[in-house]
Amino acid sequence: MTKDLQLPPGAAPDWTIPQDWDAYTPTEHATWDRLFARQGEMLRGRVVQAFIEGLDLLRMTRPGIPDFSELNVRLMAATGWQVVAVPGLVPDEMFFDHLSKRRFVAGRFIRKPEELDYLKEPDIFHDVFGHVPLLAHPVFADYMQAYGEGGLRAAKLGMIEELARLYWYTVEFGLIQEEDALKIYGAGIVSSYGESIFALDDPSPNRIGFDLERVMRTRYRIDDYQQAYFVIDSFEDLLAQTRDADFGPLYARLRGRPAIEVADVMPADRVLTGGTQAYARTKTSA
Ligand code: PHE
Ligand code: CO
Repeated sequence: MTKDLQLPPGAAPDWTIPQDWDAYTPTEHATWDRLFARQGEMLRGRVVQAFIEGLDLLRMTRPGIPDFSELNVRLMAATGWQVVAVPGLVPDEMFFDHLSKRRFVAGRFIRKPEELDYLKEPDIFHDVFGHVPLLAHPVFADYMQAYGEGGLRAAKLGMIEELARLYWYTVEFGLIQEEDALKIYGAGIVSSYGESIFALDDPSPNRIGFDLERVMRTRYRIDDYQQAYFVIDSFEDLLAQTRDADFGPLYARLRGRPAIEVADVMPADRVLTGGTQAYARTKTSA
């Protein structure tokens, strides 16, 4: 988690900075367009319908890096959300506080053309292309706000690590069952060419029905493709299981239990795909 961060020079007390849209170079806009063209094409048929609808509604199909001030007019009208720029990682409680106020914090820099598939920290393509379209969906929008409120509470209770796993396996790497097909909705998958294919088609990872307590016990990897994905039935169901539940008793149970390793399959799991873990093994034996 993000501890000991200092307020960067030039940032407001809430860590936001101006996007400074006029400062983007033609090369930077072209990088966005290349990434957008590549993902846009590949995601058809793979991503949840609401994502495509969000792209259209927010006019994100227009070329160039989106100008937050324009994007926010449409996003605000759709769900009351806004995108705000930040210089980099923000402290956990600042992050939760923004979400609880329907503000999504986004990096404003874009990756270098020679690093299209390589990201040390989330850039504007991940943050905005990956996350923002679903913020135009009313139910997902409510989930994100509720998550922020839950984060502020988890911070007080010392349960940020457990709650972060929920974010990871839903907002970042979630899969959803949609009309008898498995679809992507997590931003970490949506913004990655390789993982958009891997998460749905590769025989390596486990794909397991979403279970809140199970997910909050499961470690995750930040350095490579996931070894397990969790599948929700709908955004309505995800929201109902989280916003309308008191996590107090859940946290109490979690305190006494060991974490589950990334590739473990538990007896109670609803396994949709039992992964071979072949991909993960090629990495560890290298
Ligand atoms: N209902 C949760 C709690 O009691 C908060 C929460 C909502 C957490 C949505 C995550 C997502 O803490
Ligand atoms: Co993200």
